[in-house]
Amino acid sequence: MKSLSLLRRCTIDSRNIYRQTSPLFLDFLAPSTLRQSTQLRCNSTTAFQNDNQQSRSNKSKPKYRLSESQREYLDSALRVNQAGELAATRIYTAQRPPVVRSHPHLRPLMNHMYDQEAGHFSTFNKLIAKHQVRPTAMYPVWQAASSFLGWSTGVMGREAAMACTEAVETEIGSHYNEQVREILSWEAEAERRGEELDDELKEMLATFRRIRDEELEHLDHAVENDSKEAKPYDPLVNVIRLGCRAAIKISERV
Ligand SMILES: [Fe+2]
Ligand SMILES: [Fe+2]
Repeated sequence: MKSLSLLRRCTIDSRNIYRQTSPLFLDFLAPSTLRQSTQLRCNSTTAFQNDNQQSRSNKSKPKYRLSESQREYLDSALRVNQAGELAATRIYTAQRPPVVRSHPHLRPLMNHMYDQEAGHFSTFNKLIAKHQVRPTAMYPVWQAASSFLGWSTGVMGREAAMACTEAVETEIGSHYNEQVREILSWEAEAERRGEELDDELKEMLATFRRIRDEELEHLDHAVENDSKEAKPYDPLVNVIRLGCRAAIKISERV
């Protein structure tokens, strides 16, 4: 039941069935390919043309073209991220009433964290739709499980609610970090080749970084608000973290 939301390292699982039904996913890659091949065709013959090409490439490098496995990675990452943010919004929705009722001074903090999660969820809903990524088939299950997790830790008290946030954000923070590192490795490879990432992929990287930072901010808030005082702290946090990791793994594939 604790298999709330969350996501995880997006391994490169080939989903051939889905590939066959959704050939347009991550469509922003296509223009890059066209621009690159056009540029390469121009890069020939006279010195004048070479100089001209050189001055143009100073302004705009060839775009880095993602491999099939890299596109599968992003496909999986967006699906898991959407599932995780769905769960996060459900946790806070269920947790907020009992926590605020017993500790009214926490209302601004709970509202702040919920608002950020709702923003993350909206971001991934748009990205999923834009790039035609299949949402996880576990969507209704995560919705129910995360609501239960939020409600149960909320009624256990402020410390348990904060321990829940600590556990979830520990997992999700490292999950986003892995995604950021992966895309940065692509960027480094692109630079070695004299290329650059597509603008849309750069924007996605910036989005992942921003959301990671906001998740880690939630983790700090939880610790500042006595998450470590939850009883029983270790079993509670360990079970939630295990549930998060399982939910991430499942959502990558299903
Ligand atoms: Fe979030
Ligand atoms: Fe969060």
